[in-house]
Amino acid sequence: MKYARLTGSGSYLPDKVLTNHDLESMVDTSHEWIMARTGISERRIAADDEFTCDLAEKASREALHVAGVSPGQVDLIVVATTTPDQVFPSTACLLQQRLGIRGCPAFDVQAVCAGFIFALDVANRFIRTQGARCALVVGAETFSRIIDWTDRGTCILFGDGGGAVVLQDDDRPGIHSTHLHSDGAYKDLLCVPTGVSRNYEAVKSGTAYTTMAGNDVFRWAVTAMSALVDETLEANGIGRDDVDWLIPHQANVRIINAVGKRTGFPADRVIVTVNHHGNTSAASVPLALDESIRNGKIRTGDTVLMEGFGGGFTWGSALLTL
Ligand code: ACO
Repeated sequence: MKYARLTGSGSYLPDKVLTNHDLESMVDTSHEWIMARTGISERRIAADDEFTCDLAEKASREALHVAGVSPGQVDLIVVATTTPDQVFPSTACLLQQRLGIRGCPAFDVQAVCAGFIFALDVANRFIRTQGARCALVVGAETFSRIIDWTDRGTCILFGDGGGAVVLQDDDRPGIHSTHLHSDGAYKDLLCVPTGVSRNYEAVKSGTAYTTMAGNDVFRWAVTAMSALVDETLEANGIGRDDVDWLIPHQANVRIINAVGKRTGFPADRVIVTVNHHGNTSAASVPLALDESIRNGKIRTGDTVLMEGFGGGFTWGSALLTL
């Protein structure tokens, strides 16, 4: 059986920076409060004429370039997004057309902030069973479009961005394991309560916004992502010291610190990038991974444990050696 190996990564952040000081003039908040509660100092916002597929395309072209793969070699495209350009076709099909790829399966995965891990799991299974040899896996979001910019409880947290990886078949791992979970019993704690089939009027009037029970989500995210570390280590028969880097979902520095502390990962082995791009939902993990590869923190041969947590709830992890 083949393994899926990560051979390239890329990411993209829109040009427009929204700082905490900018937010001070929009809602009743302060830079100090946001820093103390979230550790986020700024986030990026897509231009009015910039859409999720644009972010996905830029990240994908970079990942393909790094992997040394031409678009024609790609035989699977999976895009994780909560904020697709259109109701249909999927953002994956739009991306496929942009990249000039024809015929291979291309589809979206919707698991909100855990979406990239879910997409990675799907692509890994394709490659393991030799249904694909070269997969493009993307997490991209224009989350700013589903944020109520007058709600200080949510608007301080989120931003836009895209990240992508190329997975290719290989005789060595690669991805060692993936672990996915969902529980719809928590559907109301973090959601956009309107959509295409239900109250489409809100979508049409541009008021389909994210609502969140912040304290409950905080507790759940810490508990679920800590448990995922144990589950992943146990499934692979390894200890914490066999993992070079932990990349938790980049939601909030306090959540990340709590997961590191609870699982015994020293802070210098836990990746944090949320401070300068906010919570970019499905793009969060590939953005953090790509930035850490580019700045030389994460190197070839390192073993990385990545994990996501999102609305649903959905949560999942992936262990891979680069
Ligand atoms: N600025 C100033 N004050 C604020 C703000 C703000 N932006 N937001 C809330 N407050 C106030 C509240 O109104 C409240 O005031 P009160 O005591 O007078 O009623 C006070 O601050 C405390 O509010 P809490 O909600 O208890 O603050 P908390 O410490 O929980 O921080 C936060 C709120 C940052 C949202 C936190 O709960 C959190 O990070 N939760 C996790 C949510 C998260 O990360 N979600 C992302 C989605 S998870 C994912 O990606 C899946």
